[in-house]
Amino acid sequence: MVVLLNSRPCFVVLILLAAFSCFSPRLCFGEDRITFSTPIKDLESKTLLCKSGVFRFGFFTPVNSTGRLRYVGIWYDKIPVQTVVWVANRDAPINDTSGVVSISDDGNLVVTDGRNSLLWSTNVTVLVAPNATWVQLMENGNLRLQDNRNNGEILWESFKHPYSSMLPRMSLGLNNGTGENTGLTSWRSYTDPSTGNYTVGLVAFPFPELLIWKNKVPQWRSGPWNGQVFIGLPDMDSLLNIDGFNLNNDNQGTVLLTFANDSFLYHFNLDPNGAIYQRDWSTSMNDWRVGVRFPSTDCDEYNRCGPYGSCNYREDPQCKCIKGFVPRNNTEWSLGNWISGCVRRAPLRCERVKNGSSNGGKEDWFLKVQKMKVPVNVQPSLANAQACPKVCLDNCSCTAYAYDQGIGCMLWSGNLVDMQSFLGSGIDLYIRLSHSELKAHSKRAVMITALVLGIVFVSAVCVLLACLKLKKRPG
Ligand SMILES: *[C@@H]1O[C@H](CO)[C@@H](O)[C@H](O)[C@H]1NC(C)=O
Ligand SMILES: *[C@@H]1O[C@H](CO)[C@@H](O)[C@H](O)[C@H]1NC(C)=O
Ligand SMILES: *[C@@H]1O[C@H](CO)[C@@H](O)[C@H](O)[C@H]1NC(C)=O
Ligand SMILES: *[C@@H]1O[C@H](CO)[C@@H](O)[C@H](O)[C@H]1NC(C)=O
Ligand SMILES: *[C@@H]1O[C@H](CO)[C@@H](O)[C@H](O)[C@H]1NC(C)=O
Ligand SMILES: *[C@@H]1O[C@H](CO)[C@@H](O)[C@H](O)[C@H]1NC(C)=O
Ligand SMILES: *[C@@H]1O[C@H](CO)[C@@H](O)[C@H](O)[C@H]1NC(C)=O
Ligand SMILES: *[C@@H]1O[C@H](CO)[C@@H](O)[C@H](O)[C@H]1NC(C)=O
Ligand SMILES: *[C@@H]1O[C@H](CO)[C@@H](O)[C@H](O)[C@H]1NC(C)=O
Ligand SMILES: *[C@@H]1O[C@H](CO)[C@@H](O)[C@H](O)[C@H]1NC(C)=O
Repeated sequence: MVVLLNSRPCFVVLILLAAFSCFSPRLCFGEDRITFSTPIKDLESKTLLCKSGVFRFGFFTPVNSTGRLRYVGIWYDKIPVQTVVWVANRDAPINDTSGVVSISDDGNLVVTDGRNSLLWSTNVTVLVAPNATWVQLMENGNLRLQDNRNNGEILWESFKHPYSSMLPRMSLGLNNGTGENTGLTSWRSYTDPSTGNYTVGLVAFPFPELLIWKNKVPQWRSGPWNGQVFIGLPDMDSLLNIDGFNLNNDNQGTVLLTFANDSFLYHFNLDPNGAIYQRDWSTSMNDWRVGVRFPSTDCDEYNRCGPYGSCNYREDPQCKCIKGFVPRNNTEWSLGNWISGCVRRAPLRCERVKNGSSNGGKEDWFLKVQKMKVPVNVQPSLANAQACPKVCLDNCSCTAYAYDQGIGCMLWSGNLVDMQSFLGSGIDLYIRLSHSELKAHSKRAVMITALVLGIVFVSAVCVLLACLKLKKRPG
């Protein structure tokens, strides 16, 4: 061997052989499987490399972390920035290099430390013989535990148990059949892969919607899915441009969000600060290029302006009460503490009637507010576009309605929460107000019209007088 290496031509031949042998994966230096007899030991610096050569599986230490803790995970192999897409023993790292990933006696994939204590397991309950399973890192970055007695039946796969990243051909969402709800979970910090405070996932009812939670409290929402887009996103079109992005809804409680970009160097990630973004690898920049990102403005923060408040990040202050509503607490509101929101100025007729304080008066009406992010807690109605306003008006607890071609008639009752005013996209929201607000509205309109007409008249007279004066001058 030493002689061979010392003679240059032979060395080149060896490298060529190695390169060619990669076409036959079994011979390649990068093995992509773990079997009962071939575990991975951190001490031996062994890893798995998938056939596409894009993903690697093994032990790693997060870059820039202060400790030397060892985690088992999957990361991109050929790119210079350490980018981990999945972690097994996220909450049970190993503080030395004694760790082993192996097939246990019951056929599960397990991570153990030097003292053989179990740190992580695929936890498949179907007990099989240890020699009957194998683990393979697929070329799309999916790690699979398979049963070799049963036509390679998949017992477990990392794509069904994602962590902070969503890779192409992975799906997130709810499965009524299995009862699973698959979402993403953030790392604790950029250097700490342990379970963080943020999660992102789908809710199915009444319409599919994407939410980010912090310790189970909503932080951001996408608005309902209308068959093509989430109607609460400011740049709906940019999501449509993500090729292969799709949401399948069987209306039986199974809702799956997928995207099928053929590029492996492309994914969604939920970062430790609770933002979800899409990014792809740019060879020219030699770095990740970030695409869509949510939340992206202050106004995306859930319920930023409180009930009946509407947010517009281009304006100062960003929060405004909807017309017909006033701040609940003026002191707080003027200090920029918007969370207690706004209250109705004039009570609705239907409430006055219900209260017995009135038996009539003019019917309530709807104020049209354009290009809005629709509020939370939408209630679906089967009414068509013409009947939708009437259905709302006929029910005193209905405070707003909207109509979208893909969704149909949407109703809201009680407080309207988490509204935003968009520039380009958005839905026309019709908000129920007392008839007296219509008068206030039209009175103001009449006054403005009168003022404008007055100004026009006075200017016209001035111009006329000036002209006459000019004419009178001797030429
Ligand atoms: C690690 O730290 C360096 C220097 O502070 C920084 O440039 C780099 O982005 C960090 N890497 C990661 C993955 O955080
Ligand atoms: C590693 O952790 C074990 C307990 O999990 C502890 O007993 C041991 O002292 C630690 N070693 C180092 C070098 O910190
Ligand atoms: C496996 O199951 C045990 C006991 O039910 C549980 O404590 C552990 O968190 C599970 N591990 C994984 C990776 O799901
Ligand atoms: C697994 O298979 C290997 C080789 O086929 C054999 O040597 C070993 O005894 C088997 N182990 C078990 C637990 O069946
Ligand atoms: C996560 O949430 C817990 C409970 O609210 C809090 O104590 C902790 O500081 C949070 N951690 C991070 C990293 O935000
Ligand atoms: C789940 O499916 C069953 C039968 O297919 C159906 O009865 C049930 O309503 C579904 N669950 C939901 C939440 O839709
Ligand atoms: C995959 O994503 C890249 C980067 O955004 C894009 O340029 C490409 O068109 C997409 N390809 C497919 C097939 O979706
Ligand atoms: C308004 O808010 C301030 C500060 O939180 C509080 O001191 C005051 O009592 C509130 N006023 C009313 C009417 O609720
Ligand atoms: C209804 O009656 C209650 C108590 O009499 C009163 O506080 C409330 O303001 C009334 N509401 C309306 C809308 O008239
Ligand atoms: C009115 O709306 C409320 C809230 O959506 C609902 O619970 C109630 O059944 C509706 N009443 C009628 C008569 O439709």
